[in-house]
Amino acid sequence: MMEIAKRLNGVGEYYFSQKLREIDAMNKAGKNVINLGIGSPDLPPHPSVIKVLQDESAKPNMHGYQNYKGSPQLRNAISNWYKKWYHVNLDPETEILPLIGSKEGIMHICMTYFEEGIGVLVPNPGYPTYSSAVKISGATPIYYNLKKENNYEPDFDELEKLITQFPHQGIRGLFVNYPQMPTGQLPTVKMFEDLVAFAKEHDLLLVHDNPYSFILNKKPLSILSVAGAKDVALELNSLSKSQNMAGWRVGMLCGKKERIDEVLRFKSNMDSGMFLPVQLAAAKALELGQDWHDELNAIYAKRRDKVYELLDLLKCSYDTSQAGMFMWAASPNPSEEGALNHPLGIGGILSDKILYEANVFITPGGIFGDAGNDYIRISLCTKGEKIAEAIERIKNLKLKI
Ligand SMILES: Cc1ncc(COP(=O)(O)O)c(C=O)c1O
Repeated sequence: MMEIAKRLNGVGEYYFSQKLREIDAMNKAGKNVINLGIGSPDLPPHPSVIKVLQDESAKPNMHGYQNYKGSPQLRNAISNWYKKWYHVNLDPETEILPLIGSKEGIMHICMTYFEEGIGVLVPNPGYPTYSSAVKISGATPIYYNLKKENNYEPDFDELEKLITQFPHQGIRGLFVNYPQMPTGQLPTVKMFEDLVAFAKEHDLLLVHDNPYSFILNKKPLSILSVAGAKDVALELNSLSKSQNMAGWRVGMLCGKKERIDEVLRFKSNMDSGMFLPVQLAAAKALELGQDWHDELNAIYAKRRDKVYELLDLLKCSYDTSQAGMFMWAASPNPSEEGALNHPLGIGGILSDKILYEANVFITPGGIFGDAGNDYIRISLCTKGEKIAEAIERIKNLKLKI
């Protein structure tokens, strides 16, 4: 047997990697599963973006290794994009690092700053990659709770307590993500200001992950717009969701020159940059205006109405002010006995029932942390007709909920 490195202790295969294999097998067996799980936009990028990729990749001189810090055109486009939408000034030479998707940036940050003996605060519920990447770095994820009664904002007293209690060499990082995935909670300027002040007071690296700020949200907000934020914060951003380019793998890390140089020290040893035509097409995508976002959001809003119908049918409760490409909803009857035996609680039971009896996949909230056990998450990345079909399948089931 081959021995596996200890750094993978407590890190399993990514939930969706396993689940999509199971759904594939169900489809091969003729089940025709409707997948309302994953947040991969089904709509294409803007045609002008595809055209740049086509034209540029046809040129003979586009195929070599690239600059480790990304092409100047892409860094300039990111700088202009941050100025236009977030009112944040970023020096394209020194304060921007293009990434092969923001997911890899989470790993680079963890490998650059965290190690054994160090604790890192991660949200519960939250994007599972934060805790996996922290564990792989050798550090320990310390979960803080996001509660509905606190508008899914961090409770600073709880954070303070977690910092005081943590032994060893202390807590070095804090991951935050607003609009929050999976709860859809929007940020406020006040919360961002409080986070920056808290990170300064406790000497923490504050990592804000911001891929959803344009989806069903009229006011994109960057934590870097808070005065003095660059002293403590790094921000991850992505073209996966707002530009419909999830498979292209284009993201970015923004922050102070020193931080960007530190992360580059790790990243430049891991990969050799992105295909230049992809970078040039990404630069084009960042020039898209309000019309693009309005059109996309009109589609998502229509789908969301259908998802409300589905959630009503399931007797779930939900907040209609959510941003991002998911709906987060509380399962009915959270005290059901069987929930105690399901590793993902009542949301896990509901998700299994719907998958195995109606061939519709919805994500159990518990995969985002145990604070999500009573919840489910439905993606808006499926056409309205498919959501309608899912509703019919579930109606026919006459599920006892
Ligand atoms: C909160 C959050 N951060 C980061 C990512 C990763 O995005 P990317 O495609 O840029 O790697 C996702 C993807 O689902 C996400 O939900």
